[in-house]
Amino acid sequence: MIDCEGLVKIYKTDDLEVVALQGLNLKVEDGELMAIIGNSGSGKSTLLNILGGLDRPSAGQVKVGPWDLLKITEEETVQYKRETVGFIWQNNARNLLPYLSALENVEMPMMLSGKVDRAYAKQLLDWVGLKDRMHNKLHQLSGGEQQRVAIAISLSNRPKLLLADEPTGSVDTTTSDMIMGIFRRLNREIGITVVIVTHDLTLAGKVDRVVAIRDGLTSTEFIKRNPNITLGGGEAELPAASGLQTVHEAYVVVDRVGRLQVPKEYLSALSIKDKATMEFDGERIIITPPKSLGG
Ligand SMILES: Nc1ncnc2c1ncn2[C@@H]1O[C@H](COP(=O)(O)OP(=O)(O)OP(=O)(O)O)[C@@H](O)[C@H]1O
Ligand SMILES: [Mg+2]
Repeated sequence: MIDCEGLVKIYKTDDLEVVALQGLNLKVEDGELMAIIGNSGSGKSTLLNILGGLDRPSAGQVKVGPWDLLKITEEETVQYKRETVGFIWQNNARNLLPYLSALENVEMPMMLSGKVDRAYAKQLLDWVGLKDRMHNKLHQLSGGEQQRVAIAISLSNRPKLLLADEPTGSVDTTTSDMIMGIFRRLNREIGITVVIVTHDLTLAGKVDRVVAIRDGLTSTEFIKRNPNITLGGGEAELPAASGLQTVHEAYVVVDRVGRLQVPKEYLSALSIKDKATMEFDGERIIITPPKSLGG
């Protein structure tokens, strides 16, 4: 569904250049439910805006399905946004209309694309648990309810790819769980590919895969396969491999019995096959090849 290679985004302001993405690689399969985590300023929204067709990449490759977002024309971008992606903004206030009802808000993008399907708009609001509030004006709804209206809006064009920027950023845990439940249902039942940007590590435990991004680069991906897994360990500092400009920060998932998955590249870089030496120095756990193999 998504294929980014060497993706670069440079923001140019008067006398300053900000390199928000510096050669980012990311592949997302059709039908995945995944999260991108990273600190503030690491380039998450930049990446999502590019994937959503809201902003243009500066260089590199970025493909979504059959669309090449580097080469796409303005008209094609409109079509791409209309047919392929649903977008949930980090700050939703800017695309919700406070004096319209929830239902009218969902119908608005349908109106812009020329086809209002009221039954579907109602069904979407039902899905996000707002059946009884659909005739309320937006400003009469709570923040979490408004966020769910935003989810319904993002689905109004029946997207294949849903991009959500901090969808649970300003809601409580219950609402956050509910929103994640909606994403999972959409993913499992309709097969929508979902990419969630967050800096909330607890969300990371609720998706199929987590990719960490730091300084506009994705780190090696750590993969979660067990739905009951808990996120542990926080971050791992890894020595910079030759050719990389930055030390990658990566999040490793530790399951209930203490197993963690070491990325293949790390193992092959150290020629670790079936055995490794593990040391604990009180602060870090260090994994090295067994001495007998000569390091
Ligand atoms: N329009 C812009 N013009 C100039 N610089 C920008 C612009 N948008 C973002 N940046 C810069 O690009 C970098 C990445 O920003 P981005 O918004 O992608 O971060 P983020 O990971 O989404 O952060 P947060 O978690 O705070 O939302 C930051 O240094 C930011 O200041
Ligand atoms: Mg952001």
